[in-house]
Amino acid sequence: MKTTRRDFLRATSLGLTLPFIPAIPAIHAEESNLEWRFGVIPDTQWKTNMDAPFYGTAIHIIDAVNAEMIRQKVDFVLEVGDLVEEAFTEAFQTRAQHNKILYETGIKFYPLRGNHDSNNNITPVCCSTMVAQYKAAFPNLPGTLGNGGSSPKLPNAAGMTYSFTHKNGKFLLLDTFPLVDDGSEDGKAYKIGDYQSWIDAELSKDDHQFALVFAHKDLLGQNHKDNVFSDDVTNQDSFPETQNAFIASLQKYGVKNFICGHDHMYHRSRIKSPDGKSEIQQIICGSAAHKFYLPEPPFLARETSLVKELNRIGFLIVHVNNNSLRIAYHSTEPFGQEPLSPKWEIRDSFSNTFN
Ligand SMILES: [Fe+2]
Repeated sequence: MKTTRRDFLRATSLGLTLPFIPAIPAIHAEESNLEWRFGVIPDTQWKTNMDAPFYGTAIHIIDAVNAEMIRQKVDFVLEVGDLVEEAFTEAFQTRAQHNKILYETGIKFYPLRGNHDSNNNITPVCCSTMVAQYKAAFPNLPGTLGNGGSSPKLPNAAGMTYSFTHKNGKFLLLDTFPLVDDGSEDGKAYKIGDYQSWIDAELSKDDHQFALVFAHKDLLGQNHKDNVFSDDVTNQDSFPETQNAFIASLQKYGVKNFICGHDHMYHRSRIKSPDGKSEIQQIICGSAAHKFYLPEPPFLARETSLVKELNRIGFLIVHVNNNSLRIAYHSTEPFGQEPLSPKWEIRDSFSNTFN
């Protein structure tokens, strides 16, 4: 469902939950020299699906976010999927070209596919073609030969679902979209359960002090009711044993945050597993796209909503300092197709410690 500013104002005037979030000063002047940072950019689709210069990717928003990433001296930027509106060569190439300023500054970019990166409604092609187009734009990712990191030992998973370490952190990016032409219309996608033994193995390694796990789809969405476990919008408790095992694994290995996109809003919540035995914090990290969605019931009792912001362009900066993470959500008013230098405000900030 696409919403407009007018829809948003009407919805909030009807009593939709929108907690007051005080603006937090944007600059922490006393940052330690030991601190390092990385950025997370959410979905970057743009509405001009097939046309230059956008080719369905929000190049002006990407440029504005990248400028702020450089200003904040991040080591790398990670995107949680839906880089483009429709999966085709020019779209992926355009998205990649707008990272040039990052690469020139020595900042790496780690992408992850979303549902839009694995689907072309205008000129349908088989999934292996879209995967090849994506890989051509984003080559040499961790998990591929000679590029470090790790990927599950599954056909075509290398560099699509992958982990890498950076300084004292470890990062797992999970691709849950079609990767293998198996004769079906969409192709075969791996499920979280297919990855679980690899996830456990990666998280159990003694090569990091903290770890974060990323996927495009959510554990529980506010608007979207499909999730990282299933496309069944009628049952968010699908595959409960898979959900229990995944969230238990994150808790067991000290992963305190699961970061995702897909819902085009900022929402931080605590989510219990269906069996109630384990829990994780979920961060739906905003929208860097033309689309915004509003929360829609049902909401499950095993999710506790903490902070929510709708209808703003945003991204995360993660600050790593000694034995703590501070995750800061920055946002600004939506803007049109013109280049802009927005004023970013920190609208949520919280810390976790690790040992
Ligand atoms: Fe999505």
